[in-house]
Amino acid sequence: MRALSGLSTCLVLVASMLIVAAPASASETVGPLPDDFLWGVSSSGFQSEGDAPDSNWLRYSETKEPYLNAVDFRHRYAEDIGLAADMGVEVYRFGIEWARVEPAPGEWDQAELAYYDDVVAHILDAGMTPMITLNHWVHPGWVADQDGWRNEETIADFTAYAELITGRYAGLGVKWVTFNEPTLYVFHEIDNGAATWLDAPWLFDRLARAHGNAYDLVRELDPGAPVTSNLAFIPLTPWLFDAVFLDKIAGKLDFVGIDYYFGLSLDNLTAARALTGGEVAAQPDGIYYTLRYYHDKFPDKPLYIVENGVPTADGAPREDGLTRAEHLEDHVYWIQRARQDGMDVIGYSYWSITDNYEWGSYTPRFGLYTVDAVNDPDLVRRPTDGVDAYTGVIAAGGVAADYDPVVRQSICSLIDPPLSCLVPAG
Ligand code: BGC
Repeated sequence: MRALSGLSTCLVLVASMLIVAAPASASETVGPLPDDFLWGVSSSGFQSEGDAPDSNWLRYSETKEPYLNAVDFRHRYAEDIGLAADMGVEVYRFGIEWARVEPAPGEWDQAELAYYDDVVAHILDAGMTPMITLNHWVHPGWVADQDGWRNEETIADFTAYAELITGRYAGLGVKWVTFNEPTLYVFHEIDNGAATWLDAPWLFDRLARAHGNAYDLVRELDPGAPVTSNLAFIPLTPWLFDAVFLDKIAGKLDFVGIDYYFGLSLDNLTAARALTGGEVAAQPDGIYYTLRYYHDKFPDKPLYIVENGVPTADGAPREDGLTRAEHLEDHVYWIQRARQDGMDVIGYSYWSITDNYEWGSYTPRFGLYTVDAVNDPDLVRRPTDGVDAYTGVIAAGGVAADYDPVVRQSICSLIDPPLSCLVPAG
């Protein structure tokens, strides 16, 4: 009896939460984003370059789907940069591979540095701003041999590399990303056997200190250039993930770089499938609640969506029927809503310009341009419907005022509960 009354109290509570949380209107009208809003595309070095030098990840890939030549960005960067410029893109994010420029301790590969010089020159010539990631989960084989971030020495080694790169591209208007998604960097190191869970606190501590060094170097060598470390947004308890890294570097962060891929709500619990490789249902309004969470946390810092995108399996249509174009437009709609509601979101970069090596597999494809890296020796870039959609969005500064999102607003968002549930976007 007592159990029953407990259950009914619980049901009444959930029902009243749902009534409070029920979205006021599925599609409020939106205004365009301002002219200075930045539209970008994102990519990383290892995932797209091919011709990869020895590194932790080249070693990990030996037990996974073969790395092959990725999509050969190393030699086709002019084409990819041109494709981005044709869409009207303003910010081109790419990663410099530490393993490529410093194949042995203190030995700088001038030919590879010249390659990156040319990448930067192409981006600038096309009228775009380079966003450069210093470390996207990959470090040289010799750093792996010294135990990676388990070794204190790696901080000094990374700092020397960061000094060379930030100095080399100073004065060009670069936006700097020190570490891509540090939480997942550490997770992958553990998952691939290079560290244990007991090492995690030390790894985070070293990454935070290395970030701090790179931040100070940019202040000194490239004054005025903004710096971030983009975080992988994980719903439900974002504060828990912030505590391990973001909160430690909050004083050395010019803007908050956020990677938003999936949300969670009472009517969409499919995020759990991310762990098993299943299809995760899109939750576009989650980007709104994510931005609201960081706006509340850092009211004085601009927010930038550094990555957002959707995988298809081998380029086939998604099981839920959602197209890349619809996914993209729905997320942009919610960014417009966020901006309308006072959140200082200054940019959005799509992941990714082309398909690439998804950390052990070529099956998940995130590209605006699809590339069959496994079966097509010519690595032809084929446009998806995302290309026209993004071109239109960029030209118009967002989706049309009367845009009606394909994915309905969630019932009780669990992005940052209880607030995201109890105070829905209305
Ligand atoms: C990473 C990318 C990855 C993307 C899609 C992000 O976590 O930064 O490297 O490809 O998500 O899974």
